[in-house]
Amino acid sequence: MAQDATTIGHLALHYGAASDGPAAAKLLTLLGFTETQMLPLPGGNFYRFVVDDRHHAAGDGIIYLSVVPEPQQALVDAIRGALKVGEIDEHPSVAGMRGMLEADPEASFHLGFLVPSLDRLEQIVLGLKDAAANDPDLKGRVEFGFNRARAGDPEVDARLDASPVFGSVTRYAYGRNGVQVFVKTDLLKSGTLGENAVLELDYVFPGKTSHILSVVEL
Ligand SMILES: [Fe+2]
Repeated sequence: MAQDATTIGHLALHYGAASDGPAAAKLLTLLGFTETQMLPLPGGNFYRFVVDDRHHAAGDGIIYLSVVPEPQQALVDAIRGALKVGEIDEHPSVAGMRGMLEADPEASFHLGFLVPSLDRLEQIVLGLKDAAANDPDLKGRVEFGFNRARAGDPEVDARLDASPVFGSVTRYAYGRNGVQVFVKTDLLKSGTLGENAVLELDYVFPGKTSHILSVVEL
């Protein structure tokens, strides 16, 4: 990328309860990001991460992580109360939204990160899956979804068939020559109902002009 290109600078993510701060930070570390600062605050820790260590002292590639601000939580609580979320007479729009996200986790607000090697992506996913199954901080808090590249390129298809992560995946991306991993977690709070967040990790095979992030195919 050209040095004078505009880049995405930072994201502000929030965890719910103050006690979830360390687990949310652990999740970001397991996703391959680097914690550069932790500021203990009375309401919950404030963290600065960078998506790659090369952003350590830079102004981009940053993720800030802090507790959901009180007025935001009050608004979310009021919305959920008014819609009777989780109750027998829940507003039907809630099920509609949940159904859409179940079918396609990237249909609404989400964050995507590009990982520079498939080996690295597989390593991150295997580590995160292990933690999601065995680490008490993450157990029951993380769900996964996978899309493999649209079939057609023999080299890509063979590599993915042999992959410990994508070999058994039957969902396909809206495009070629790349893969997507979706990580849904209630350790981070975003979206219309303020109850979870969807993070996406992608890999694009090199030397391809048409890939999942360059051309959307239906
Ligand atoms: Fe996406």
